[in-house]
Amino acid sequence: MTKKVNKDSFDKYSYYLKSVQSPDNDVIFLSQTYKELKGKKPKTLREDFCGTFKISCEWVKLDKDKEAVGVDIDPEPIEYGKQNYLSELNSEQQSRVKILEASVTEKNLPKADVVAAQNFSYYLFKKRNQLLEYFKNAYKGVNEGGIFVIDCFGGPRCQEENEEETEHDNFSYFWDQDSFDPVTNYAQFYIHFKRKGEKKRERVFSYDWRMWTIPELKEIMEDAGFKKVHVYWEGSDEDGDGDGEFTRVTQGEECESWVAYVVGEK
Ligand SMILES: C[S@@+](CC[C@H](N)C(=O)[O-])C[C@H]1O[C@@H](n2cnc3c(N)ncnc32)[C@H](O)[C@@H]1O
Repeated sequence: MTKKVNKDSFDKYSYYLKSVQSPDNDVIFLSQTYKELKGKKPKTLREDFCGTFKISCEWVKLDKDKEAVGVDIDPEPIEYGKQNYLSELNSEQQSRVKILEASVTEKNLPKADVVAAQNFSYYLFKKRNQLLEYFKNAYKGVNEGGIFVIDCFGGPRCQEENEEETEHDNFSYFWDQDSFDPVTNYAQFYIHFKRKGEKKRERVFSYDWRMWTIPELKEIMEDAGFKKVHVYWEGSDEDGDGDGEFTRVTQGEECESWVAYVVGEK
């Protein structure tokens, strides 16, 4: 059953979903990228740092034989996902989603055709050897012939203090880059929300991250054992904004801020 949310209560995960996530598009990208590289459809997904595991829930909707396992260390988003997203699936689909409350660095996590880490979650690993250990663990978790997919972002706009407001129907979402240190590439981000007629709710989510670059990510994936590493770059619409379509490239394009995927093949 979907947990009833009192209209006056503040449901931070629902505003997060509307503001920063697009799980239905994400699973299409994951499935199509595997098909493009491997010539067949993937069956299993491991969603690392799964949070409310909406991606896992969308994955099992794509095909009758698809299975997903989500891994997150925090019971709070997992419980939210169970109450609000898993409950929207039918019981047969639910039986194809498993959730583990565990660290992505734990040994012997389940293997999958596609292991994915979305929304830059691995940026919390600030040292190269920590990231390498995680990528090695992801490598172990990828089935022979499978892929590891991570997203990343950057551009000059992400190397300066700034706050961007995006207006939605009844609320605003704020992406706040509070600091950036060019010596370490460490950056502090916050998400704030403001519902119409209410005070701004500051720092609903906070992220203490290292901004990894694409060349670093490619090299660390190669060091972890991936035999080929590809970059998928987002196309742009007529206004020059990202159009949500990612294609395999060997060269990027200068822009103020960008989002890309790095994909390792085992
Ligand atoms: C930025 S959120 C991303 C959530 C989700 N992947 C998404 O796309 O929105 C990062 C998530 O990583 C989880 N996390 C942090 N450290 C972790 C670890 N070592 N192992 C597993 N999950 C971790 C947090 O609990 C949080 O849910």
